[in-house]
Amino acid sequence: MTSGDIAPPATFYGSGERFATLDEIVAAARENLPAEVWDFLAGGAGEESTLHANRDAFARWAFLPRVMSGADVPSTRTSFLGAELSMPVLTAPFGADALFHPEGQRAVARANEAEGVASIVPEAGSHSLEDVRAAAPGAAVIAQLHPMGQEANFRAMIARIADRGYRALCVTVDCPTGGWRERNLRNRFAPDPAVITGNYRAAGSPEPEEVFGQLFDRTEPVWSWDRLAGALAGSPLPWLAKGILTGADAEAAIAAGASGIVVSNHGGRQLDGAPAALDQLPEVARAVAGRAQIALDSGIRRGADVAKALALGADVVIIGRLAACGLAAAGETGVRRVHRLLRAELTTVLTLLGRGGVRDLDESALRRSAS
Ligand SMILES: Cc1cc2nc3c(=O)[nH]c(=O)nc-3n(C[C@H](O)[C@H](O)[C@H](O)COP(=O)(O)O)c2cc1C
Repeated sequence: MTSGDIAPPATFYGSGERFATLDEIVAAARENLPAEVWDFLAGGAGEESTLHANRDAFARWAFLPRVMSGADVPSTRTSFLGAELSMPVLTAPFGADALFHPEGQRAVARANEAEGVASIVPEAGSHSLEDVRAAAPGAAVIAQLHPMGQEANFRAMIARIADRGYRALCVTVDCPTGGWRERNLRNRFAPDPAVITGNYRAAGSPEPEEVFGQLFDRTEPVWSWDRLAGALAGSPLPWLAKGILTGADAEAAIAAGASGIVVSNHGGRQLDGAPAALDQLPEVARAVAGRAQIALDSGIRRGADVAKALALGADVVIIGRLAACGLAAAGETGVRRVHRLLRAELTTVLTLLGRGGVRDLDESALRRSAS
């Protein structure tokens, strides 16, 4: 380092922190977890071509810095569905969370509350949405649901969520059945029902087996937008459609009443062969044309990825495996460290791009590489 270089904040260099980089957190998570649980976390569907495509897509975009821009110290602050965030990041609804740490999404929510990040709390989580809310009453929380199988469970969950302090619903539309996850098949691995039924242990709920029988009822057709709009009709909460990859589906989601679109291929865990989420983002952003807020997930691994997604039209990103790795590496502290490293890297990237904040990012910050 020359004397002219400006050092990153002291907390990120030589600070004695256990994890100096996000990669170290991922490595610690892998070390802490049994091999079959790591495979469940890290793996994708089929031959994992979509899982890899998600990462390759980020590498195809190069940054175009604007030097000597006079830009102010950059701010990463933003808002999403009315929630004020310290940076444009939410944590994904990842179920079976107690496999990674006993506190699961409760620890994630506490880390998020401390770091100004919003949680999307999974229906198939290890703790109930009431428990997660109680763990971090100040965190911005969104409740995720699966519109599949029979409607009774979906409607009961909506009614239950309405008065629990959740600000929105996240409806996962790319999961009419589970993906073909070969690592789990090879490992003969399925999560213990106890880690995915936290929402169905409360008094008065149907038995977990009964709920899952209704959800995965193969005699039920795949839901339509009309059916979803009907089931949501009584809900006072705005909702996001999670798992959109085309402009046409974004249009249909907005017509059904969605306030937000999550461009996502479920982290490559559902339809193998589907395109990278980042590659589909410009098409979806064009179709949405400002009528809904846009989130992107699938493949975010560092702050530079956040900047690229925002430049291509996302308002925020959602992190799945990265947050799960923070949890597996060191519980609440690990998730907080993920957020702090992401925010520090994003701040560095914004400064080097000559942009004064996340809202200043647009396609002029990027150039697509030849390949
Ligand atoms: C272990 C695990 C469990 C997940 N469970 C759910 C779920 O129950 N519902 C859902 O909509 N998405 C689920 N997802 C997908 C995430 O919400 C998100 O779309 C994905 O992880 C984003 O990709 P990334 O992991 O590359 O960040 C899960 C992901 C992982 C890794």
